[in-house]
Amino acid sequence: MRTALKRLPPSIIALLLQATAFVVVMLTVRSLQLQLAPIVFALLCGLLASILSHSAKQARWWIYIQLFFLPAILLAYSLDIPPTLFLIAFLIMLTVYWSAFRTQVPLYLSSNKVWQALETQLPTNHSFTFIDLGSGIGGVLTHLAKTHPMGHYHGVEYAPLPHAWSWLRIKLGGYKNCTAQWGSMWDCDLSQYDVVFAYLSPVPMERLWHKAYSEMRPGSLFISNTFVVPDHPPHMSISVDDLHQSTLFIWRM
Ligand SMILES: C[S@@+](CC[C@H](N)C(=O)[O-])C[C@H]1O[C@@H](n2cnc3c(N)ncnc32)[C@H](O)[C@@H]1O
Repeated sequence: MRTALKRLPPSIIALLLQATAFVVVMLTVRSLQLQLAPIVFALLCGLLASILSHSAKQARWWIYIQLFFLPAILLAYSLDIPPTLFLIAFLIMLTVYWSAFRTQVPLYLSSNKVWQALETQLPTNHSFTFIDLGSGIGGVLTHLAKTHPMGHYHGVEYAPLPHAWSWLRIKLGGYKNCTAQWGSMWDCDLSQYDVVFAYLSPVPMERLWHKAYSEMRPGSLFISNTFVVPDHPPHMSISVDDLHQSTLFIWRM
């Protein structure tokens, strides 16, 4: 049972636990014939769901999400917000985060200081190819295309809205040495690139390492912002003094 649960995305596990908590609290309230205010009922469900998530060893943020999930629904319901607004908000979130619930790699952006640290790893006297795996809104690509114009930059992004943004940014900015592709990094051939950059999450790092190791050419660079590869210490790391205290982990293949 536990192994079957572990194979599901955390969001689905959280939803199942929330539903379990709801049923348990509902049955208890009915059998004890309790009269609870809706907010108390919602908080009890949240509390039980948080405990279940904690026992299922879900990440810490799920504990808080579980606790406030039903009370937040209740609050939103009481505010009488038109359903169209929820639909619009949902569609915007969908195009920005796309399948992040499955990939567990949401959109957040690397800092200017990370871009500057990346610059120090790029060749200055010959042309080279660079790919940003999960290129978000194209900030890494367009910045490096300006500072290191000898490079050819390619970004691949899964989520439609960030991809469209980066595509426009490249077209409107006239970046001739940049391209943006809407697609999955798992379909990219990494042997085409001298530098492969990724800023993802802990979840895909092991799989990505195997892909990089089997496809990248000897001497090329694999750079990960913040997330390490389990059991494969980097050849070099650069600490960046930004808001998140980011670190660039660098492997020469
Ligand atoms: C943390 S953001 C990094 C954005 C950008 N590279 C930066 O450093 O600012 C990670 C991005 O990877 C994208 N992503 C996640 N899985 C992906 C996949 N399999 N293929 C392509 N992009 C993916 C997400 O949609 C998200 O925009």
